[in-house]
Amino acid sequence: MQTKSFRIDRYISKKIGINRRDIKLMLAQGRIEINGELVREITTIVEEFDRVLLDGKLLQAKQPIYIMMNKPIGVVSATKDKLHKTVIDLLPKALLGNHEVAHDLHIVGRLDLNTSGLLLLTNDSRWSRKLMSPEEKVNKVYQVTLQNELADEYVAAFSAGMYFEFEDITTQPAELKIVSKHVAEVVLKEGKYHQIKRMFGRFRNPVLALHRSSIGNLLLDTSLAEGESRVLTSDEVSTIFDR
Ligand code: URA
Repeated sequence: MQTKSFRIDRYISKKIGINRRDIKLMLAQGRIEINGELVREITTIVEEFDRVLLDGKLLQAKQPIYIMMNKPIGVVSATKDKLHKTVIDLLPKALLGNHEVAHDLHIVGRLDLNTSGLLLLTNDSRWSRKLMSPEEKVNKVYQVTLQNELADEYVAAFSAGMYFEFEDITTQPAELKIVSKHVAEVVLKEGKYHQIKRMFGRFRNPVLALHRSSIGNLLLDTSLAEGESRVLTSDEVSTIFDR
């Protein structure tokens, strides 16, 4: 997900369909305001949640929204799907406030159709990009139930990383704790396609159930029933990154 910031001339031109050259004049005439300040520089950058006015008329005033969902299995982590219900379909209208917000949301780190647990949705692409960035190394914790018994050798293999030929990448060191014969807890710092299933696939050990319980410092709120969601507190939005 790209960060939605644009240079002012590109932003206004896209928004109201006028020539970028004419925007230089508008700026010189003091007709454009961002967050209560007149702007005159063509190099000014408009950020996603800036309040932008042209001739006193509002062009943009979006509020950021951050939602956690307890995703049930059988629901797709997508905004649209022809076959299945999507996580967006599960969001209560009351939670979104204004209906248009739903169109603006994206998912931060998808879960597979048959994976349950903590899923985050937001319209803040800067926040989601930071959460998913490999440099940030944000932990994602999963509980995994396996068909066959776990063995100690899995721990070293997860920690060493595995080479995925299809993408030509080696996975970051991952932590695996054996909880019981068929249950493991896995901590990933990234989210490659079907990563956990593929990692256990190396041992020909099919994953029977997969559940995400936390992302960074944010734990799935256990008062949320499957399919339920709630807005994050501002504290949760910022402390998710703390180590
Ligand atoms: N790994 C998987 O295989 N599936 C998920 O949904 C998440 C991590």
